[in-house]
Amino acid sequence: MQDIHADRLLILDFGSQYTQLIARRIREQGVYSEILPCDVDPSRITSFAPKGVILSGGPESTTVADGWKIPAEVYALGVPVLGICYGMQALAQELGGLVEASDLREFGHADLTITNDQSLFSGLSSTGTLSVWMSHGDRVTRVPPGFDVIGSSAHAPIAAMADTKRHYYGLQFHPEVTHSEQGTAMLGYFAHQVCGCGRSWTPQNIIDDAVTQVRAQVGDRHVLLGLSGGVDSSVVAALLHRAIGPQLVCVFVDNGLLRLDEGDQVMQTFAEHLGVRVIRANAETLFLDALTGVSDPEQKRKIIGRVFIEVFDAEASRLPDVAFLAQGTIYPDVIESAGAASGKAHVIKSHHNVGGLPETMQLALVEPLRELFKDEVREIGVSLGLPREMVYRHPFPGPGLGVRILGEVTRAAAETLRLADAIFIDELRRANLYDTVSQAFAVFLPVNSVGVVGDQRRYAPVIALRAVETIDFMTARWAHLPYAFIEGVSSRIINEIEGVSRVVYDVSSKPPATIEWE
Ligand code: XMP
Repeated sequence: MQDIHADRLLILDFGSQYTQLIARRIREQGVYSEILPCDVDPSRITSFAPKGVILSGGPESTTVADGWKIPAEVYALGVPVLGICYGMQALAQELGGLVEASDLREFGHADLTITNDQSLFSGLSSTGTLSVWMSHGDRVTRVPPGFDVIGSSAHAPIAAMADTKRHYYGLQFHPEVTHSEQGTAMLGYFAHQVCGCGRSWTPQNIIDDAVTQVRAQVGDRHVLLGLSGGVDSSVVAALLHRAIGPQLVCVFVDNGLLRLDEGDQVMQTFAEHLGVRVIRANAETLFLDALTGVSDPEQKRKIIGRVFIEVFDAEASRLPDVAFLAQGTIYPDVIESAGAASGKAHVIKSHHNVGGLPETMQLALVEPLRELFKDEVREIGVSLGLPREMVYRHPFPGPGLGVRILGEVTRAAAETLRLADAIFIDELRRANLYDTVSQAFAVFLPVNSVGVVGDQRRYAPVIALRAVETIDFMTARWAHLPYAFIEGVSSRIINEIEGVSRVVYDVSSKPPATIEWE
């Protein structure tokens, strides 16, 4: 079988917020790429043996004495190197050019004039002037010996440089950002023409490779998977089913805090359509009993987490021949925990997954998505036959409606919220707005307000609608949904659900508000 990791590029991370984007763009070109921090043990650079290296941007300055250096092992590989932003400046500085700090920061769109289209830019469909995305203060003011200037902008006369003998290239702008015209073509040219990589990183090849690896790891043993209905665990289930069929056993915990019909949908998709072995643990009463009288959000989260593990553990202990536990860890989790371990993480995300490895079980891990970005996980999910709607669903928190019912969680509140949420999502889909927002949901507020429905006075709780636009869920803007649309959702919720007196729309962004209300 073809080795889909053979043609690979290394992305050396100097701390840019766009580093993961570079790796994704390279993979979209069908080329495997991995990210390593710039201060990684250099022997790993050598042993990774890439066909080319891309140096990312970063927040530091090469003009200060202790700025990050390019490890000598990168040059020693003897492969092409592309420096982006800080990466270009580091190349220029280290190879005998000059970098100067400038008060004129260039941020946002800039016009790049291509002055030489014979090397990195020779694969472009049009040359001349391109709109590109800049984000820098320092700039290269003299290229090192052996380099030519191949592009310039108003504030960066040396905006692109090339040494076509050693195959070293530098771009002051960010080709990985979609605002950079033909940026993907530049990266593609570097990967294919300059580094000589093929195009074997495709969804079908990724699936075939994962299937082979899982079979080799698992042999004839059994694998346990906690299926939540979320994207990652769903794709793991579909992939493992393809690889080992009946040796996979899934446990789906229905905690009574799921979306409308979600439990039935999970069972339908996996058990009925795909033929996966799924054990459904109906634990609504257990969860609701444990939550009775509890209003504090952190305490609610802890209880839901604890009961989840108890239920999962009880189900798992009835499966004596299980030797592996499967998890939906994906590549950004791996990068972030590596960053956190080395203390060099720029963004430390709080991981708040419910559950975890039951401590009493001595199980080895199967993590078939460890190398994949979320968009790759989604693509292989669709290739494996999962419904598009499931794979492209908005994120849903592990503690479910437990964090969307403010105050005490009761069965009645969960039922009201489930119906309101379903109406909101249904209307978003009908109006073709679902995919224009990153996350949308309803929240149950335990305050009664007065309303009039028909001739009747109604004194009932309030529902809040929340919809946000975001890229990374670390910051978010409230979605400017059309008034007429919100009006329609509001009137359906009040007319169709008896236990609601009024509907409000949340116009808070993050920060200072979080996405969930808790
Ligand atoms: P916040 O509310 O912190 O949410 O702005 C950011 C994103 O994380 C999701 N979220 C969770 N996801 N388990 C999860 O898997 C959780 O406990 C959890 N809490 C919040 C939230 O829905 C949003 O997408």
